[in-house]
Amino acid sequence: MADSVDLIIRNARLIDGTGAPSAHGDIAVNGDRIAELGDLRETTRATEIDAGGKAVAPGFIDVHTHDDRALLVDPLMAPKVSQGVTTVVTGNCGVSLAPLRTARRPPAPLDLVCPDAEGFFAEFGDYLAALDAEPAAVNALCQVGHASLRVEAMDTLDRPATAGEISAMRRRLERALEDGAIGLSTGLFYAPANAAPTDEIIELAQAVRAAGGIHTTHMRDEGDGVSESLEETFTIGRTADVPVVISHHKCAGQANFGRSAETLALIDAARQRQAVSLDAYPYIASSTTLASGRRLGASRVLVTWSAPHPEAAGRDLDEVAADMGLDPADTVDALMPAGGIFFMMDESDVRRILAYRGTMIGSDGLPHDEFPHPRLWGTFPRVLGHYAREEGLFSLEEAVHKMTGLPARHFGLTGRGVLTPGAIADLVVFDPETVIDTATFEQPKQPARGIELVVVNGRTVWRDGASTGARPGRAIRRGAVPPPIREQ
Ligand code: ZN
Ligand code: CU
Repeated sequence: MADSVDLIIRNARLIDGTGAPSAHGDIAVNGDRIAELGDLRETTRATEIDAGGKAVAPGFIDVHTHDDRALLVDPLMAPKVSQGVTTVVTGNCGVSLAPLRTARRPPAPLDLVCPDAEGFFAEFGDYLAALDAEPAAVNALCQVGHASLRVEAMDTLDRPATAGEISAMRRRLERALEDGAIGLSTGLFYAPANAAPTDEIIELAQAVRAAGGIHTTHMRDEGDGVSESLEETFTIGRTADVPVVISHHKCAGQANFGRSAETLALIDAARQRQAVSLDAYPYIASSTTLASGRRLGASRVLVTWSAPHPEAAGRDLDEVAADMGLDPADTVDALMPAGGIFFMMDESDVRRILAYRGTMIGSDGLPHDEFPHPRLWGTFPRVLGHYAREEGLFSLEEAVHKMTGLPARHFGLTGRGVLTPGAIADLVVFDPETVIDTATFEQPKQPARGIELVVVNGRTVWRDGASTGARPGRAIRRGAVPPPIREQ
């Protein structure tokens, strides 16, 4: 009975995920559904919990993850459930674990998700079936990565795909969408896709439109060319008639500090004519492969992992370079394949983007890194505790909306993301007075404080600072839900 509950949580601050003001009351769960909300003095359940006035919200939706393989190899998903996350969106930045048939070591950044060719799934349906067979603690919505399609379809990646290669990719994408993929992601910034022209993406995105899916993008340029990249993204969305999501929106490099005023104005204007949304994480540092991150104009670089030099993980690149007696460029070459953390954003841009009405929260955590960016363990409590409570950037209700109702709407996740009778019981109980991230750049693998109870599909997955062992997560197919909304 410990984790399978007919549950009632009493004396709670109910934050419903819509952004509306919270209300005091009780919430009852029957099986995997929310049964009732309000004053439930007359109702009893097998399990009764007194929240002591703490908050109950819909479970958080992490819209930007690289958890494709983590769901299978680390199914308790402690970095996520410890934050109150109950659903993750996988397959971002052009990288997905399926569909991909390959015999060679996958090129960066595919290796961020899986370093071995054998770890990828030839068919998207087989990947979802693997998640069904060995469920994780959290739900998953899974995308197809454009770079994964390219690696299979093309012998060399530093050129546009031919018409034949585009047809081959499109067939693979269409099959994956039939199997339940929710859409297509691109990582035009990265080497495997950087040579792809806009038209190549439009042709693939047309398959997404036909299936009622979504298109997410790590844009070609988040630095000097960020405005041009936004225009490219809008063009793809408009021409293919698909809703687009700008991933981890930022203005990279000192020369671009302050430009979020300009980029958000462009996004605002585009939203008048087409479906555009965006996500962000609450930090001034990014994290990706060491070689690609070097182009970002970072003021400081930390090594997160290195295949030939694992001892470098957690150290400053400058220190490693001094020890090796090499200049930074040669040090990067010596460390690759490797990952890094790059301090290259302005705090005022991070705040302006987080506070923007349409911005959702996505961690972009890298779960296989030796010494990961703290966003992996800290993103959601940091938004709630630091940016909402301590800094007053927005209300607690608005913060919760950015991680629940808003992403549920954009990703077509009906029946989740809001507290309402009949909705799926994905829930988090947290203390609004103490919730905070504890993961830091020095100590990145630390669970947050103040997350008291996490429920996925009606079953408790996190309680008293630890996983319960329950793995009630579902691989949610597109088509099991209506298509994403097409207007704001
Ligand atoms: Zn990315
Ligand atoms: Cu990413």
